[in-house]
Amino acid sequence: MKTRRDTHGTLRRIERGAPTEPGLRHRSHRGIFFLVVLAFAVGLCLSPASAQTTPSGDGLPQVNTDGWTSSAVCGECHQSIHAVWRHSLHANAWTNGVFQAAYRRAIDTYGAEDARECLTCHAPTVRHGGDYEVKQKVTAEGITCDFCHSVNAVDLDDPKERFRLTVGAAKYGPLRHAQSPAHKVVNSDLHKSSEFCAACHEYRTPEGLLVLGTYSEWKASVYAKRGTQCQDCHMPLVPGRVVGLGIKKDTPNEVNWHDVSGSHDIDRVRAAVKLELVGYEWLGERVWVYVKVTNEGSGHCFPTGLPMHRAVLEVTLREGTRVIDQREIPFEVVMLDKAGRPLRREHEVLVQAARVRSDTRIKPKEARTVDISFRDIKATKLAVTATLNYEYTTETLVPGEKEGEERVEPVTMKFLIATSQSTMRQLGR
Ligand code: HEC
Ligand code: HEC
Ligand code: HEC
Ligand code: HEC
Ligand code: HEC
Repeated sequence: MKTRRDTHGTLRRIERGAPTEPGLRHRSHRGIFFLVVLAFAVGLCLSPASAQTTPSGDGLPQVNTDGWTSSAVCGECHQSIHAVWRHSLHANAWTNGVFQAAYRRAIDTYGAEDARECLTCHAPTVRHGGDYEVKQKVTAEGITCDFCHSVNAVDLDDPKERFRLTVGAAKYGPLRHAQSPAHKVVNSDLHKSSEFCAACHEYRTPEGLLVLGTYSEWKASVYAKRGTQCQDCHMPLVPGRVVGLGIKKDTPNEVNWHDVSGSHDIDRVRAAVKLELVGYEWLGERVWVYVKVTNEGSGHCFPTGLPMHRAVLEVTLREGTRVIDQREIPFEVVMLDKAGRPLRREHEVLVQAARVRSDTRIKPKEARTVDISFRDIKATKLAVTATLNYEYTTETLVPGEKEGEERVEPVTMKFLIATSQSTMRQLGR
């Protein structure tokens, strides 16, 4: 193993600090800024704990030059990035129970050979070395540092392999003129572009149906025209150090936010989607309620990704406290298999979806006014409530009664995005 130590002036011998792990699951960006700085500060004070790396002559942890390197090694120098990434969905793309449940279903339904395809995105290091049995620790790290930073090109039109990888000594990233004592550094504009993300966030089934279309939804939007990339919203620059002070001093004081959250950060969804009760009409015993839902800040359809992600508008009429009628309007895409059967599970969608039955999702910047009509209204005064929820019905793998046992359980997640209330009178047209 040979890694050149660059003589970049300010390099110092590393005080081997354990990567820090404060519970970095926080909702507000300000909290994250603060914690990133804190994580970094704590990282500097902590003492050694890693036996994973082979230090070179000068005591610095080194990357594996002829295969994948675990994130634990990267995290010894890139502490603040590692502390955030490790709680991300990307880091948990293989381990999380929802994926595990669906992956088992895929194996049971289509066989282990076909289910391998799932790993090419959820444990993408299988693309080089082929550890489909997930025997190595680095494979279980899901979408790990070394995978993303070994990508040197993508070809979205190549159905066999969308990524071009250079695994080993070189790490590809957005910084210009960076130099590292642990690895070669290659400047890559690809990492600043949506095409990089598209290699996983855009996917057609063997039937040819686009089931993950986040990239093309973005591409058709005003964001793409203005040059706003996925990273600009999902990986903004936040205060933090690219590497610990012990490694290098003159490095940028900001890092890209590696949490890369989406709808799991419900505050983000709330900030992006607006709900308004815009008016009503009341003619005799019929009432029309007009509700406007606007996708103000999401760079693609709302919701995007798998069709299990739904937003549901609920409109309720009350006379006093008594509910007299209620209506639900989903914003969702419904996909069918070849035989026209609606597909409700992730593994079925990803393998069998053949056509779209309906798509009522809200496009980027679209303001949609929905009119909901109610009949046989005898009251003269009503209260109306419009509520928008984010819903996700799926399954998850949980530990069973006995030691070592596991079972699949249904789960429904439901979060309130927004609610609005008003009163209506029969004469008030
Ligand atoms: C011994 C410490 C050390 C280790 C271990 C380490 N790096 Fe680095 N890395 C650095 C330094 C120093 C820089 C340069 C920072 C600068 O110049 O501002 C750097 C830069 C980078 C960059 C920026 C490249 C660019 O052009 O944008 C990436 C990406 C990166 N490292 C990824 C990784 C990954 C992935 C791992 C684990 C496989 C890793 N590093 C392990 C010290 C390290
Ligand atoms: C999903 C892919 C992905 C994963 C996983 C990932 N990165 Fe990155 N990383 C990126 C992208 C993309 C950028 C550049 C974003 C931009 O410039 O807009 C980046 C930027 C960087 C940089 C340059 C400094 C900065 O923040 O801009 C370093 C260093 C780095 N990553 C290290 C790491 C380490 C260490 C890990 C694991 C703890 C990691 N990355 C995990 C995609 C990833
Ligand atoms: C190697 C494949 C891969 C790459 C590259 C990748 N992703 Fe992902 N991404 C995934 C997978 C798989 C998940 C779902 C993980 C899970 O929950 O099991 C995911 C989840 C997400 C989420 C959802 C988080 C949430 O809170 O719901 C967002 C947002 C996201 N990715 C954005 C990005 C962006 C932006 C990029 C480019 C900088 C990117 N991804 C690159 C595979 C990838
Ligand atoms: C203008 C900002 C913006 C841009 C650009 C953007 N997103 Fe998002 N993204 C959001 C917001 C806000 C959410 C949460 C609301 C939602 O689910 O649509 C989100 C959610 C997501 C989710 C979570 C889906 C789910 O239901 O769990 C994924 C995955 C995602 N984005 C990927 C991407 C990718 C890939 C790109 C680039 C092709 C991209 N985003 C571009 C703002 C943006
Ligand atoms: C082309 C890349 C790709 C392939 C192949 C893929 N997925 Fe995914 N998967 C994603 C992305 C990206 C997400 C993020 C959520 C979204 O956009 O809806 C995701 C999300 C999921 C989720 C939701 C996880 C969560 O935390 O909410 C499950 C479950 C899942 N995938 C199962 C599978 C199974 C099972 C297979 C194989 C049949 C598979 N995936 C194949 C990219 C992929």
